[in-house]
Amino acid sequence: MMYKQLPPIVQDPIFKIADACQKDTREEKVNLAIGVYLDNDGKVPLPLSVQKAEAWLAEQHIPRAYIGMEGLPAFNQHVQKLYFGEQSPAYIDGRIATVQTLGGTGAISLGAGLLHKAFPEAQAWIGKPGWDNHFALFEAMGIKTHAYDYYSHEKGLLFDEMVSLFKTLNKGSIVLLQPCCHNPTGCDLNTDQWSIVLDIIKDRQLIPFLDIAYLGFGEGLTQDRQVVQQFLNANIPFLLASSFSKNVGLYAERIGALSVVCPQACEIDQVRSYLRVLVRSHYSTPPAHGAFIVNTIFSDTDLTTLWQNEVDQMRMRIQAMRTRTHEILKERVPNFNADLLITQKGMFSYLPLNSEQINVLREKYAIYMLENGRINVPGLNTHNVDYFANALAKVL
Ligand code: LMR
Repeated sequence: MMYKQLPPIVQDPIFKIADACQKDTREEKVNLAIGVYLDNDGKVPLPLSVQKAEAWLAEQHIPRAYIGMEGLPAFNQHVQKLYFGEQSPAYIDGRIATVQTLGGTGAISLGAGLLHKAFPEAQAWIGKPGWDNHFALFEAMGIKTHAYDYYSHEKGLLFDEMVSLFKTLNKGSIVLLQPCCHNPTGCDLNTDQWSIVLDIIKDRQLIPFLDIAYLGFGEGLTQDRQVVQQFLNANIPFLLASSFSKNVGLYAERIGALSVVCPQACEIDQVRSYLRVLVRSHYSTPPAHGAFIVNTIFSDTDLTTLWQNEVDQMRMRIQAMRTRTHEILKERVPNFNADLLITQKGMFSYLPLNSEQINVLREKYAIYMLENGRINVPGLNTHNVDYFANALAKVL
């Protein structure tokens, strides 16, 4: 035996449940585990905008040369226009360095690597509950992580606790923030709360690292990037990890971006050269196909409009599932705060269930959700939503 000295390790909680669900052969099973958009037939859709882009690309017979360590330049431009806007001073002044990454996860990893190089002593604060992988990604890059309280089932958003902690952080501490569609709670800060956070960030000279994986699933493409605009308007440097996994349905293509908003345009080349070194030492150059697809969609006005409409439809379907679950719960369990279902935004709802209730849902009803009570709402559809809501009503 060669590797027996390796101690047992805890598996990723999200993929663990998703795998268990996949193995379940019960016909009635409901998969609410992993954060993936599913259509009304429970399938990951291939958006029409992607199909059209791929059909066009197939005719171009593009050779598969390396696209460079920073990825496809045209793709990176589109990312900047989408998230920051051509009118933003940071864009106009050329103060944003954007590189193509292996999904949003790759963007966080790369950003963490850059921060550790630039600020070896900096430590990162990450919201709890949150996406467990945030901790792993920062730690893997050598950054010590800590949790800040973000939300509890009893009190909801722990805004006061969060800002009190931020006020105590050392200059140069990294704070991981989710601008919209918070994973796992679906509970976002409002504009006033973001202003307060921004004041503290400025005052304490913290380094904000924004993770925006679900643009368009909260209130819409424009509304969901308002927080990014708030950060730009505050004129502070920050990092943004973005992903096209969800809103273009390109999960397996691993296509995302890291954008580093710098105080001065003259820092951009240095940042880019460090990012290139990190990319080179991890995977050399990113894959091209996802970038070609996104670039094709955003280079064509009709395809862009089609894609925007498709994002709107996905969001509205999620909303319809929230409304239906809310309706059933309100009627069947009047003392349960079913309003959570309709106030939480994005792909997830965070249900105040204990592990026994979650077990009963899984064992008796074949309903799979995360151990922390998170459900991936797009796993609901017109065929299973009543079954789910009634089962939930029973365990409640
Ligand atoms: C999730 O939270 O379920 C998604 O972001 C998928 C993942 O990689 O964990």
